[in-house]
Amino acid sequence: MQKDLISVKDLSIQDIREIFDLTDELKKDKAKFSSVLKGKTLALIFQKPSNRTRVSFEVGMFQLGGYAIYLRPDEINLGVRESIKDVAKTLSRYIDGIVLRTFEHKNVVDLAEYSDKPVINGLSDFSHPCQALADIYTIKEKLKNIKGATLAYVGDGNNVCNSLLFACSKTGMNMAVATPKGFGPDVKVLKDAIKLAAAVGSSIKISNTPEEAVKAADVIYTDVWTSMGQEKETQKRKAIFKRFQVNKKLISLAKKNCLIMHCLPAHRGEEITDEVIDSRNSVVFDQAENRMHDQKAILIKLIKGERA
Ligand code: CP
Ligand code: NVA
Repeated sequence: MQKDLISVKDLSIQDIREIFDLTDELKKDKAKFSSVLKGKTLALIFQKPSNRTRVSFEVGMFQLGGYAIYLRPDEINLGVRESIKDVAKTLSRYIDGIVLRTFEHKNVVDLAEYSDKPVINGLSDFSHPCQALADIYTIKEKLKNIKGATLAYVGDGNNVCNSLLFACSKTGMNMAVATPKGFGPDVKVLKDAIKLAAAVGSSIKISNTPEEAVKAADVIYTDVWTSMGQEKETQKRKAIFKRFQVNKKLISLAKKNCLIMHCLPAHRGEEITDEVIDSRNSVVFDQAENRMHDQKAILIKLIKGERA
């Protein structure tokens, strides 16, 4: 595996397989790994709010015998109080890994370039790799065989959608994306994902029709219409995305046991209705839980550099 986890694109199929295998072991036997990162410290630089990412990394590090330091947005004030280069070089003298949640994706890339220690992307405006990996892991847990399974992503072609495109195409899943016109995923990501999918015999489809996208779906996935940092566009987006709500009517067009997924936080009543997110087929809290197990595997692989 490379030094950093910036994008799912950088992971080989073998890397993903190894992360999932280690995640299985971590879930099965927590005690076995309780001191694998003893004496190691992780810095969490967060420029945006978080529940799952912050807590799962902090608790995960604790469960591995290590320590985590949370750094508030106004504390490090990345690039304002101090350059990214100086932050990276200073932290490298103290810690063993850094998680960064930021706006511009370039910040993660730059931090990784200047840091001697592994940098993990804890969400940028462009991608959310830890989320997508935990999502595919969750799908694998539920469906067992994911090769050829179809994930329909309905809503905004945002950071989560970009990472799912890489994760699905690398793991042999099909993906059908339905977004309003002008809100599709990153064009370059889409191109890459189509190529990757073709190489493993799966497919990536893109449309503006949620009804079409969910037809053959084994999984329906959605995310907020307004991501962090886009709050000024909230009202405009509510009107544009109205037709893309994941509700009972839309679900009725999909396979009977289709899984319902959402990275959370959810804006209930907007991109997803209460009855759908609370339904029997919803696995949103399994996804949230698996964030921690999967990230523990990533931490072991990046910080320890080998299996426990
Ligand atoms: N899904 C996710 O990353 O949640 P948080 O924003 O709460 O960390
Ligand atoms: N797309 C959302 C994901 C939150 C986990 C955001 O960036 O706000």
